[in-house]
Amino acid sequence: MPDLNEDAIRTPQNSADKKPHPKKIRPVSESITKYRTLRSQAEAGGPPERIEAQKKRGKLTARERIAYLLDEGSFQEVGLLVQSRCTDFGIKDKGIQGDGVVTGFGKVNGRPVAVFSQDFTQLGGSLGLAHARKIASMMDMARDAGVPVVGILDSGGARIQEGVDSLDGYGEIFYRNTQASGKIPQISVIVGPCAGGAVYSPALTDFVFMVKGISNMFVTGPEVVKAATGEEVDFETLGGSHTHASKSGVCHFVANSEPDCFRQVKELLSFLPCNSSEPAPAIETKDSHDRKVPLLEKLCEMDPRKPYRVHHIVWWLADDHKFMEVHHDYAKNIVIGFIRLGGQVVGVIANNPSHMAGALDINASDKAARFIRFLNCFNIPILTLVDVPGYWPGVAQEHGGIIRHGAKLLYAYSEATVPKVSLVLRKAYGGAYIAMSSKYLRGDFNFSLPSAEIAVMGPRGAIEILYSRQIKEAKDEERDELKARLAKEYSDKFASPYQTASTGSIDEVIEPASARATLIDAFQLLRNKKRRDSGGPGNIPL
Ligand code: HXC
Repeated sequence: MPDLNEDAIRTPQNSADKKPHPKKIRPVSESITKYRTLRSQAEAGGPPERIEAQKKRGKLTARERIAYLLDEGSFQEVGLLVQSRCTDFGIKDKGIQGDGVVTGFGKVNGRPVAVFSQDFTQLGGSLGLAHARKIASMMDMARDAGVPVVGILDSGGARIQEGVDSLDGYGEIFYRNTQASGKIPQISVIVGPCAGGAVYSPALTDFVFMVKGISNMFVTGPEVVKAATGEEVDFETLGGSHTHASKSGVCHFVANSEPDCFRQVKELLSFLPCNSSEPAPAIETKDSHDRKVPLLEKLCEMDPRKPYRVHHIVWWLADDHKFMEVHHDYAKNIVIGFIRLGGQVVGVIANNPSHMAGALDINASDKAARFIRFLNCFNIPILTLVDVPGYWPGVAQEHGGIIRHGAKLLYAYSEATVPKVSLVLRKAYGGAYIAMSSKYLRGDFNFSLPSAEIAVMGPRGAIEILYSRQIKEAKDEERDELKARLAKEYSDKFASPYQTASTGSIDEVIEPASARATLIDAFQLLRNKKRRDSGGPGNIPL
C-alpha cells in the first residue's frame, strides 16, 4: 500500500508520466485546515461570557456533560455543522454552532448509546427547527440501530424568534419519544431549566434525572402562576428536584452534582438491554448462590405489626447486596428498583411496611404499574416481595380515584409476560394480595415464608364482621377476651400460608434463610420462558 501522502496522491505509482501535475490540485492541507477551523469554532460553543456564566452557576457545558457520560474517545458526533435557516431577529448572524445542541453516538461501559446535549450558552439552549431536527434524526437512527437515547436538557424552551417552527419541532420530538417507547430505553437528564411544553419530552421517556439546585421543570413558571392564581412560589419550590422527586413523581433520580448524576445514569444503563429485542445484560457474580439470608428468619419471629424497611431484605437477597432504587422519595410505601440475582438483572417491586404500613394507595399503584410496564417492555424479570395489609382507606383516596389508579397495578401485572416470581413475607390481605403478582394474575412462582398471613382481611377486621352480634351481646368485662379468642381461631385457620398453599395459590412455603437460592433457581428456570403474544394493544386505565 502506498502512503496517502501528497506525492502519492499526485503521482500514481504506475504512471509513465512522473512529472507532478501543475497547480490544479489544491494542497490537501488547506482543506483540512479549513475543516479543523470550522470544527473547533463549532466545538467552542457559545461566547466566553456565556460559558463563564454557566460555570458560575456550577453547571457543566454541553460537551463536558457528554464527556462525563461516555467512554473516553467513543463519541461520534453527528450534525456538528448544522445551522439555523432562520433569518429573523438576526439569528443567522449570531452563528449558533450546531444550532445549540450537540448530538451523536458513543459508548457507556463499552455498550452503544445515542446522546443529545442542549447548549445553554447559545441562545439559552432554546429549541429552533434545525435543533429539533438534529434531535429527531438522532432518535430515528437510535431506534433503527436499537440503542438507548440519553437526552441532556438545559434549555429556555421553544426558540421564541422561530415562532411556530419551534413548536412543530417539539411535536416531532414528542412523536418520536412515543414511537420509541418500549423499543429502546429513553433517559432524560435535566440539568437546567425545562419549561413550558418542553417538559413533556422528558415525561414521555422512561427515567428522569435531576440535579439538586440547578434543575427546574414546570409547565408555567412562578410569574405566570402568580398572575393566574395569585400564588407566590419560587422556582425551586415550584419545580425543583425535591418537588419532582417527592411530590409529583416526575423525577426518578436526584443527584447532588452533575458528575454524580452521570455516574448514576451509567449505573442505570448497566441494568438495561439496548433494545426490546435483547435480554438484559447478565454478568458473572462471585456472590454465592447458597448465601443464607438470616434476616428472613428474624422477620418470621418478629411481631407482625412491627414496621421494618423492606430495603434491608432487598439488600440481603441481591447479588453483592447491590440495589439501584428507582423513585426513592416518591410513594415510599412501595419500593422499586433493579438488582441482580445469580448475575441476572431482576426488577423488584416490594411493599414497604415502614411507610403507611406498606398499604397500596394511588401514588404507589402508579409508581409500581409504570415500572412493571417498563420491565415487561425490556425483558426484565420481576420479583415481587409482598407485605401488604390492603388499600389505604379514606375519602381522599376514594375521591382521588384509587379505583382507577389501583386498577393500573392489576392491569400491569396481568399484562406482563416476563418471568414473575413473588415471595410473601408477611401480610397479604384482600384485593391487595391479588394485586401483588398473585397466581391468578399469572405469577409463575408464588412463594411464601412460613410466617405469612394470607387472607381476605386481617383477623381484627374479620371477627368484627363475622361475629358482630356475639361481640355486641358479650358482657363488657368478657368482650376483650372473646375478641382475642375469636381472632386467634381466625388466625389459626386463615392467617397462615397453609390454606393458600393447599389450594395451589401459593406454590411453595419456603425455608426463609434459603430464599436467595430459591429465587435464583426460579429465575434461572424461567430464563427462556415463552412469552405469550398479547394480540395487540389493550386499554390500560389511565
Ligand atoms: C430564545 C432564549 C429563550 C427562548 C432564553 N433565551 N430562553 N432565546 N428563546 N425560549 C436566551 C436569552 O435571550 C439569552 O440570550 C440567553 O438565552 C440566556 O437567557 P437568560 O434569560 O439570560 O438566562 P437566565 O437568567 O438564566 O434565565 C433562563 C430562563 C429565561 C429562565 C430559561 O431565559 C426564560 O425565562 N426564558 C424563557 C422561557 C420560556 O418562556 N420559554 C418558552 C416556554 S414555552 P442572550 O442573547 O442574551 O445570550 C415552550 C413551549 C414548548 O417552550 C411547547 C412544546 C409543545
